[in-house]
Amino acid sequence: MTAPTPLIAGNWKMNGLAASLDEAKAIAAGLAGAPARVALCPPAVLLHRMAEALAGSRVLVGGQDHRAEAAGAFTGDISAEMLADAGATLTILGHSERRAGHGETDATVAAKVGAALRAGLEPIVCVGETLEERKAGDALAVVTGQVRGSLPAELAGRPFSVAYEPVWAIGTGLTPTTPEIEEVHRAIRATLVGQFGEAGRAVPILYGGSVKPSNAAEILHVDEVGGALVGGASLKADDFLGIVRAL
Ligand code: 13P
Repeated sequence: MTAPTPLIAGNWKMNGLAASLDEAKAIAAGLAGAPARVALCPPAVLLHRMAEALAGSRVLVGGQDHRAEAAGAFTGDISAEMLADAGATLTILGHSERRAGHGETDATVAAKVGAALRAGLEPIVCVGETLEERKAGDALAVVTGQVRGSLPAELAGRPFSVAYEPVWAIGTGLTPTTPEIEEVHRAIRATLVGQFGEAGRAVPILYGGSVKPSNAAEILHVDEVGGALVGGASLKADDFLGIVRAL
């Protein structure tokens, strides 16, 4: 089976105002022949404007989270349908900042993945261990458990990716060694094949956590790394393009 097309996705988290759309446009303008799919996931309120600003470009636009319900009395929340209606084609789900900060369990994430699929969105499902879990030797068990629990069977035959984001590497400047990244990605691949058969080999497994232009080439060339989920470095066009060009 051919290797999946790499995906480099930028997660803007709770950053970005209307003026930040200039960075997104600079990213689109600088992509040229990059051998990857490229996505930006801005805050929901910017999504529609970003989708319009990037219309006709190669940059895909995605959401950062949504509820599992399609509509209803959920003050302040948004649905997958709303993200799709605003121009999103992807969505990040199960980010550790949602799991830890909003009490999301694997079951919550799996329900949201189902909602994303019903809305026609391509999920990027995040998993990752805490520093305590890694120190206790539990990283592989935690991550593969999250993969099994967060990916519902209805993903079979649908496009999606998994992002391995060690919690301790997010926003810290710390990264695992390349053998550590490869070990976890191989374990995720084996789990995906166990769940989805040979189709599990075509799922891109992204790495996320302190990816920047200076370490991107080393990380992106690790076996079984199929792209990156980039936080801070996706906010500046030069940094994000430096990562895309490292492929
Ligand atoms: P940083 O790249 O800022 O470490 O964030 C990674 C991340 O959480 C992307 O979802």
